[in-house]
Amino acid sequence: MLQKLRPGFNIMIEARFSAANRLILESGFSRTVDLPCGYTSRGIRFSREDIRYFGMDLPAVIDAVAPAVRELIRGNERISYHAVDATNYTSLVRALTGEKEPGRRGSIDQVNRDPKEGLLITTEGMLMNLTQSELEQVFMHMRRLLLEFGGKWITMDNELVKGQNRILEVLMEGEDEAVRGQIARKTAGLFRVENRFFDENEAEHFVGEMGLRVEKVPLYDYLPEQLHSLEQMSDEKKQAVREVFKKVNLWVMTPGEGQSPNVPVRKRISAHRWHALTGHLKLRFPGVWIH
Ligand SMILES: C[S@@+](CC[C@H](N)C(=O)[O-])C[C@H]1O[C@@H](n2cnc3c(N)ncnc32)[C@H](O)[C@@H]1O
Repeated sequence: MLQKLRPGFNIMIEARFSAANRLILESGFSRTVDLPCGYTSRGIRFSREDIRYFGMDLPAVIDAVAPAVRELIRGNERISYHAVDATNYTSLVRALTGEKEPGRRGSIDQVNRDPKEGLLITTEGMLMNLTQSELEQVFMHMRRLLLEFGGKWITMDNELVKGQNRILEVLMEGEDEAVRGQIARKTAGLFRVENRFFDENEAEHFVGEMGLRVEKVPLYDYLPEQLHSLEQMSDEKKQAVREVFKKVNLWVMTPGEGQSPNVPVRKRISAHRWHALTGHLKLRFPGVWIH
């Protein structure tokens, strides 16, 4: 049964990763922030492009990723990695500018604050693990970054499970009811998210309350011609899976006019929790990660 589940996840993760790569490169932004970058190979891929890439993640991840990538792309200063905590605004600004505190200039002036230049920030695989208070902090910081530096924030974290379930439905076609039931029970327990961005009825209100405007773009629009995870499928199944991506959206967010969120400062995320999760995911989706 797990063998049937796994292709569904692999397809979704590969599609998300590849579509975001394409969107970033076609967006016209010269600077992109990958928060969290995890162990993906995006920095290596972008080292062949004319784009400034900031990979950001918790310190333990950066400690592993940064030297591995540096080894491969020696001398490319457009690619850099930074230890941050997404719930801590100062750490994000410091990563972008080299400033020790926002507003105070440090030794490396990495990014100017001209909003015309802008940042394209992508978030893949983090928001589902946040509590409501952590989520609010991250949203508040993203809005503030966009106001200060200009740009857009993109995620599809809140549509990931919907996409996975629809892909599984396609893959399960023709299976008997008992197997389908077993799969449904198995997947229902996999993701239990407790924040408002993951409640389909609440997400848009929540984004608005946080002072952001959202435009939803079908992931299909940025899907590459080829996905490795679809290679073994019949053309008919391949097409059916690709169709799913017309109904799964990237949420493209920009600051809304005249709104300002009112969010209390609350506790941070535990790095340990993340480590358990990323170790597990690296084993499950090896194609996308650096080894
Ligand atoms: C499931 S991984 C996703 C990584 C990558 N974007 C991908 O698609 O593979 C989640 C990542 O979020 C990072 N993370 C968790 N909490 C964080 C925080 N407060 N600040 C920055 N990164 C965080 C973890 O360290 C981990 O690398």
